Amino acid sequence: MFTIDGKPYINLDVHLPLHTLPNIVDATIESYNYIHQNTWQRTWQLNGEEYNCNWRHKDTSLKTAQDFFGLELKNRTVAMMWILDLTTGGYGGNLYDSLETPKDVWDSIKLRTDLPSSWDPMMNWLSDLKCFNKLGRVSLLITRPGIPTAYHRDTGKKDSEFVGHPHRQEFFWLNMTEGKDMYILDDNRNPIKFECRSAFFNHHSWHGSHTCLPFWALSFKIEGIFSQKFRDEAGFGHLDYYYK
Ligand SMILES: [Fe+2]
Repeated sequence: MFTIDGKPYINLDVHLPLHTLPNIVDATIESYNYIHQNTWQRTWQLNGEEYNCNWRHKDTSLKTAQDFFGLELKNRTVAMMWILDLTTGGYGGNLYDSLETPKDVWDSIKLRTDLPSSWDPMMNWLSDLKCFNKLGRVSLLITRPGIPTAYHRDTGKKDSEFVGHPHRQEFFWLNMTEGKDMYILDDNRNPIKFECRSAFFNHHSWHGSHTCLPFWALSFKIEGIFSQKFRDEAGFGHLDYYYK
């Protein structure tokens, strides 16, 4: 397991302005036509067997809800979550590094302006965040009822393919639906439950869940370049890189 300073995750609840978070349910509903009804994340079950996710039939020509419905029905696969991007720009990859990703790539990432105005309170919350020197990609993860958000590394690699390296990939996970579980796996694939609403962790480690809720759930991955002040306050400011 790759940790942050030996810890499976860093609880950020007291370091983020969670008390001012707006309710985003209506904004999400009003944004139905902007949601990607798929994720290409490659995932595994808790027991290490590969999950029957849509990644197995990767076909990036698919775009519409009907396309993904067809993919899932024909192939008996599933997207465990849908995604609503709150930002544009970047380079289309899923890993941004505070030190190595070029400045022009970071600068190209902007909050979207084409979403319904019901997003304004959340956009303001994001703009006002003090934890980042630069806000990066913001993804709303829309977890489907009855389907666990299966385990994965954000690199998409399984153990036999994975080569760890020092990095400075920074973000926080933010749960918006009470009761939604999140775990990180130790080296024996034992799940360690996140006992918090918001956290930073090394997303090169296995994370996800083997449990699910019988209703839709919402969470965010909010990326960026952490400020040194925030890193110090949260207890990992002495680390130049996240590794081991
Ligand atoms: Fe992830």
